[in-house]
Amino acid sequence: MVDIGLGPAPRVIITTEELREGVDRLAGELSADYTDGVLLVAVLKGSVLFLADLVRRMRILPEIDFLAISSYAEGTGRVRIVKDLDVDICDRDVVLIEDIIDTGLTLTYILGELNRRQPRSLEVCALLDKRVRRIVPTPVRYVGFAIEDDFVLGYGLDYAERYRNLDCVVAGDLNSLRDDRDAHVKQIFAE
Ligand code: IMP
Ligand code: MG
Repeated sequence: MVDIGLGPAPRVIITTEELREGVDRLAGELSADYTDGVLLVAVLKGSVLFLADLVRRMRILPEIDFLAISSYAEGTGRVRIVKDLDVDICDRDVVLIEDIIDTGLTLTYILGELNRRQPRSLEVCALLDKRVRRIVPTPVRYVGFAIEDDFVLGYGLDYAERYRNLDCVVAGDLNSLRDDRDAHVKQIFAE
């Protein structure tokens, strides 16, 4: 990342190449564990890039569906479903695809909702796991990368809907972003 005097620059924490290796590994694990098929439920919008790469590297044919949630108030863990699944998951083998597990509150809510529908099995596959931040213990069967307590952006992850399209994961500077949500744009795209 280029320092052009615009405040702390974002730091690359997972490169494009490392992402590819991590996603390859997860695709291999899922392909080996679900030879009879699986329904991947991706949580919008953060997990879209991850899902797109993951399914293209799987050696089985998964079904995919999407769920969108919205929080009532940041950090309270009170969320609601704003776009529900199209399919009935009763008796299905389901893997929830998440971008990042932070406190675990969102995941706990979603797992509660999905479990009430009585899937045959329900596991979680998360690209990133910020373990030190966990408030609720959460069972995450498939983890791409365990990361430190950084605010991360890119490869689906956003700040105010920005930075999702980066092909790597960077740690952003929340103070700069709170001042200006585009604070890192020039640093990232300056050549
Ligand atoms: P949790 O309920 O605290 O586990 O929060 C999970 C959600 O918060 C994720 O699905 C993301 O949407 C968001 N989130 C948590 N940490 C980060 C981060 O470092 N960058 C961007 N979004 C994050
Ligand atoms: Mg999310």
